[in-house]
Amino acid sequence: MKLHSLDGRRREIIRLGHPVLRQRAEAVAQERFGTRFLRDLARDLVRTMFEDDGVGLAAPQIAASARVFAYYLPAEKGQEEMQPLVLVNPALTLMGERSEQGWEGCLSVPGLRGLVLRHPALRVQAVDVDGEPISFEAQGFHARVIQHEFDHLDGIVFVDRMADMSSLMFEPEWERYTKETDSPVTV
Ligand code: NI
Repeated sequence: MKLHSLDGRRREIIRLGHPVLRQRAEAVAQERFGTRFLRDLARDLVRTMFEDDGVGLAAPQIAASARVFAYYLPAEKGQEEMQPLVLVNPALTLMGERSEQGWEGCLSVPGLRGLVLRHPALRVQAVDVDGEPISFEAQGFHARVIQHEFDHLDGIVFVDRMADMSSLMFEPEWERYTKETDSPVTV
């Protein structure tokens, strides 16, 4: 299924405090593959992600307890641009140590950024909305986005992953006081 940014419905993004954000999301049953339910969920995730200026969005963030997330890679992140992809029931094989530091933000924790250590690379095994297997490796920023979104499926948000809370800051202060030149990314 080809996903376009203007298909689907914009859904409300829930924020920290909503119980669904802290639950382990349910695996999508095989009977749901290829159904209207799953296709609509995928389209809504992509639409909402673009409307709210995120690069990723997980189903729990729109209060849907399902192991599904959408993301894409913008061109300016020093790697090839990637069109939106929706992963269903993903499994990750993490590679290397949790050693790569980077700034993260989250549509469900609006206005805040913090430094998070992530694995530099990983392997993904998942299916698409039709149940077709998807398998690939990701590095760097790509691997970071996937780790952030995957955490949402287990009720984990980026602040839980921060080793040092002193880097937690509001966006305007981040712009003003960090020396970062990269545009901030919210996932
Ligand atoms: Ni997030």
